[in-house]
Amino acid sequence: MTRITRRDVLKLALAGGVATVHQGCGSRPSQGENPETVPRFEAALPIPPVLEPTRSDEHGDYYEIEARESTATILPGKRTTIRGYNGIFPGPTIKATRGRATSVRLTTKLESPVVTHLHGGHTPSDSDGWPTDVILPAGHQAPATSMRMDRTGDTGRMPQASASKYEHNYTYPNDRRAATLWYHDHAMGASGQNVYMGLAGFYLVEDEEERSLPLPKGRYDIPLMLCARQFNRDGSFRYNPHGHAGADGDVILVNGAPWPALQVERRPYRFRILNASNATTFTLALSPARPFVQIATDGGLMARPVEVPRIPMAMAERVEVVIDFSAYAAGNSIVLRNAEKPGPLGDIMRFDITDLAVSDLDRLPDRLSVIETLTPEAAVRTRTFTFGPRPELKYHYPPIYWAINGSRFDPEHAQAQPRLGDVEIWRFVYEKSPWRQTHPPHVHLVNFQILDRNGQAPHKHERGWKDTLRLDSGDDVRVIMAFDGYRGRYLMHCHNLEHEDYDMMMRFDVV
Ligand code: C2O
Ligand code: CU
Repeated sequence: MTRITRRDVLKLALAGGVATVHQGCGSRPSQGENPETVPRFEAALPIPPVLEPTRSDEHGDYYEIEARESTATILPGKRTTIRGYNGIFPGPTIKATRGRATSVRLTTKLESPVVTHLHGGHTPSDSDGWPTDVILPAGHQAPATSMRMDRTGDTGRMPQASASKYEHNYTYPNDRRAATLWYHDHAMGASGQNVYMGLAGFYLVEDEEERSLPLPKGRYDIPLMLCARQFNRDGSFRYNPHGHAGADGDVILVNGAPWPALQVERRPYRFRILNASNATTFTLALSPARPFVQIATDGGLMARPVEVPRIPMAMAERVEVVIDFSAYAAGNSIVLRNAEKPGPLGDIMRFDITDLAVSDLDRLPDRLSVIETLTPEAAVRTRTFTFGPRPELKYHYPPIYWAINGSRFDPEHAQAQPRLGDVEIWRFVYEKSPWRQTHPPHVHLVNFQILDRNGQAPHKHERGWKDTLRLDSGDDVRVIMAFDGYRGRYLMHCHNLEHEDYDMMMRFDVV
């Protein structure tokens, strides 16, 4: 049995203690806002604004983002204190073009340390958002935080990434295909709370291949950031990590609005759907029932559109679908549902069909892209990573920390050292446990393909480039990937953010 140290007890006390036992979805501490009183399908779906660069030159586009506290109206008639990139939640959307670099200068006015990670990005190590490369508000007199910098990555033509205590310049080369990425906080031990309070935004990479396809564009191409939150009666976020089982919620937000509605024209729309929840899984379905036409996974377009009736989504996964509303009569409504939860958590948002019907698109192309399949013969080795609680649940509930191969996160120690250019197979195993909670493994830097899931072919909706996958109790999944582009230290972790904060994370070095 694992020993519980004083440090663990202290960390646990800071996190809210062991007394809060996770009761499963739907339960709600007594002073919380009753989700039944929050109106459904009344709020208009907000669309996060696209951020303008502060300047552009031949090397790329330069952006400035400040993390700060502000208030938002999320529940009707109530004010919610948020932590937002430029003070908004979701943060502003960054649009990038393949082959043109982006530089983001991050500053903060928040008291709690922050660091930003571009999720799904092919990013040099020193711009990847290492958890201890945090920044503080200008002039803040707190003791110096750990400011180690790696300079091993090649940052391309833009100025080198740089960090000071008060700002960080992140350089993103955008050298991979078009995809729906997102940026979010990654501060050591604090990403869960920072993201819950609002530090997350979209980052959309476009390319020529995708632009040339007859897909819905402009205002018919809509990002949807899904998450679950809990509120206090005064409208403030109620961040409850349930020990550190994970901060779930009983109100579903889409782009920051509770159970919103969107008026749609009778034509096809493209939706880029992200599960930005800390600890809530979704299974997307339409009501009345109709299959989705899925066109993309985490890493961009699939080889061809696929019809899927339901799409299970773990935290941090993205799927893109085309929904053609021309099949419905004006005045009808279609609900995007979460088929894995009962009650209000079973609804996500509603599409209300108007009588406008103008479309320049007829049908989707049969072919979207070419995906070169990585075959197991190309791999130089297989590494196995098991995900589980420590101590094991029969000894302690909730666990003191979460482990990968029995170890907790150690920023000084790499648990894997793939060589630059090597193709490897990583096998993710969910240690059998009496408690069924999803652990979505996420690998920084690379995109992978799923080879098999419990000995079977991967699900239809996950046959494409991925960076995160759903790993449920008892699952055993193999993925294959090439460690291309940059040397340096990176992370692999569970994307339940409280599991991540409580050490279900490991360092790997590309050498
Ligand atoms: Cu979306 Cu390491 O995170
Ligand atoms: Cu986990």
